[in-house]
Amino acid sequence: MTTAPEILGTLHNLKTVAVAELDAVKDADGIEAWRIAYLGRKEGRITMIMKGMAALDSDSKRTVGAMANDVKALLESQLEARIEEMKSAQFTHASQEGRLDVTLPGRRPALGRLHPITQTLREITNAFGTMGFQIVEGPEVETDHYNFEMLNIPKDHPARDMFDTLWLDHTNADGEQDMLLRTHTSPMQARVMENTKPPVRVVVPGRVYRYEATDATHEWHFAQVEGLAVDEGITFANLKGTLYEFARLVFGPERRVRFRCDFFPFVEPGVDMSIDCFNCDGAGNVKGSDDMCRICRGSGWIEIMGAGMVHPRVLEMSNIDPSVYTGFAFGVGVERIAMLKHGIDDIRYFYGNDARFLRQF
Ligand code: PHE
Repeated sequence: MTTAPEILGTLHNLKTVAVAELDAVKDADGIEAWRIAYLGRKEGRITMIMKGMAALDSDSKRTVGAMANDVKALLESQLEARIEEMKSAQFTHASQEGRLDVTLPGRRPALGRLHPITQTLREITNAFGTMGFQIVEGPEVETDHYNFEMLNIPKDHPARDMFDTLWLDHTNADGEQDMLLRTHTSPMQARVMENTKPPVRVVVPGRVYRYEATDATHEWHFAQVEGLAVDEGITFANLKGTLYEFARLVFGPERRVRFRCDFFPFVEPGVDMSIDCFNCDGAGNVKGSDDMCRICRGSGWIEIMGAGMVHPRVLEMSNIDPSVYTGFAFGVGVERIAMLKHGIDDIRYFYGNDARFLRQF
């Protein structure tokens, strides 16, 4: 038979051991096992000790019972404290000690992207690249000589008007302004021909400037891609074939093209090229209705560039013999191509630096 002092001793030891064990517990499973071992209602240590008190006299029962209840209450409150401690320890680990919680979804790094005009520019130059054209670039600050003179643009041509050209504050010996921001990429035609013996096949991507009020279809700066091919025996058929292929590469294999007479001082004959409208397939109206197609404005055709056979005078000025060589040239407005491809109705979006617009490309 166990005596009261023995039971008191057991309770005392049990308290010390139980508290130490609780401290060492590492997870929720351990907590539950500990609770069952000590505080379990059927076979927990405390319950067993209380059951063993039955044989004691009533005085001893009172002392031992009181101590057993104290120990039980202590273990219960320790248990609760330990649970709280473990909860906050988890939190502390994650947030304050910089522990890596691999279950958290990652934060996406903010990646940049190419500007839609850069993308379109590359698409255009790539299309000509597949046809054997080299890419060259030229200066944006040009001379009157290359921007106009060498392109057969006479002194009284309206392109020289102060309302089209951004002139630099620079004068020649005669006191005339002679430097400007190039109004087109065509000056590179002359620069390339001066430095290259035919055959020549180049495309020139780049920025150009015009002294113009901006509106939905005009910017004071925009991008162009110039093209130039010079060799013996180049004909208008080569121009048509090349630009037709370009239209198909950029706007889809089913596109048709149209050439109409146009005037540029540095080509003869000069043309503008249109593609049949990819939105309405050249019909001019929305399929199955009478509504006018808003891309081609009902005409079924979309003008996309100026082109022509290089003017003999231009060849001559660049020291290329026009009785031996012929060539064709073209100039594409890049913003216009991008607007058509993406259905953008205002050119000013491109340079408004609004991330909500730019993120879409
Ligand atoms: N330079 C002309 C323009 O800016 C385009 C063009 C280039 C036309 C080459 C014909 C040949 O409008």
